[in-house]
Amino acid sequence: MQPNQQVINDTQGAAIVFDHVHKHFGAFTALSEFCEVVQKGEVIVLCGPSGSGKSTLVRTVNGLERIQSGRVIVDGRDVTDPTLDLDKLRQGIGFVFQQYNLFPHLNAIDNVALGLRRLLGQPKEEAYANALVLLERVGLKDKATRRPSGLSGGEQQRVAIARSLAMRPPVILFDEPTSALDPQMAGEVKSLIASLVDDNMTIMCVTHDLGFAQAIADRIWFLEGGVLIQSAAPDAFIGSDNPRVRSFLSKILTSHG
Ligand SMILES: Nc1ncnc2c1ncn2[C@@H]1O[C@H](COP(=O)(O)OP(=O)(O)O)[C@@H](O)[C@H]1O
Ligand SMILES: [Mg+2]
Repeated sequence: MQPNQQVINDTQGAAIVFDHVHKHFGAFTALSEFCEVVQKGEVIVLCGPSGSGKSTLVRTVNGLERIQSGRVIVDGRDVTDPTLDLDKLRQGIGFVFQQYNLFPHLNAIDNVALGLRRLLGQPKEEAYANALVLLERVGLKDKATRRPSGLSGGEQQRVAIARSLAMRPPVILFDEPTSALDPQMAGEVKSLIASLVDDNMTIMCVTHDLGFAQAIADRIWFLEGGVLIQSAAPDAFIGSDNPRVRSFLSKILTSHG
């Protein structure tokens, strides 16, 4: 049986359930009857060719991408329920993508404190104290008063991660978080993400960095054409005899040396 044809039964205690998720843009099918369960504390790395539906899939988790049929359940809440307060849902799901999307006119600590004040209603002093702890957590306490333009790309991405962590999300999504960074900055961001894994967070991360995937993933999902072709532990994935996985791996290994 193909992994994506599995029947979803036991979803108690799951962090994320994709239940026959179907998404099309006009005549183009981006996700086809996608079925999978992510357990709490599990780390899923998503890979696959460009256009295979990875970003679309992670965006369904916080309702940024509405689906035509199926359900996405996050922490027991049905994201596809039209009566659900999506703003509230998104507050509880960290989302870090390639572009850091910090407010350029606010300094690092303002960017982190903003959600604590506006969304969690923390008084200013408390929010700033918490924001400083978070900046320390990502190694940027000494750069708290710098604006994004005074930070490197890697530092900006670490502020973006601190901002996400501020909401204490049960789930954090990363969409190619290091692909705009040079190797050294990417390394800093990867170490930070690896430390979240140690903190037992539930993570879905799109990346083509196989070494990183091996280091953090419980399972690697390989998508092609909106279909889950393979879900396997890193070693099994890298040793896969599926021809489509092998072809993908050989391209990655060639392009990344
Ligand atoms: N808003 C959109 N309108 C039309 N097509 C889209 C839209 N978003 C994504 N797609 C298409 O859906 C497919 C999957 O996209 P995406 O999930 O971004 O792929 P990946 O992240 O794997 O590269 C692509 O072929 C893309 O062109
Ligand atoms: Mg993408």
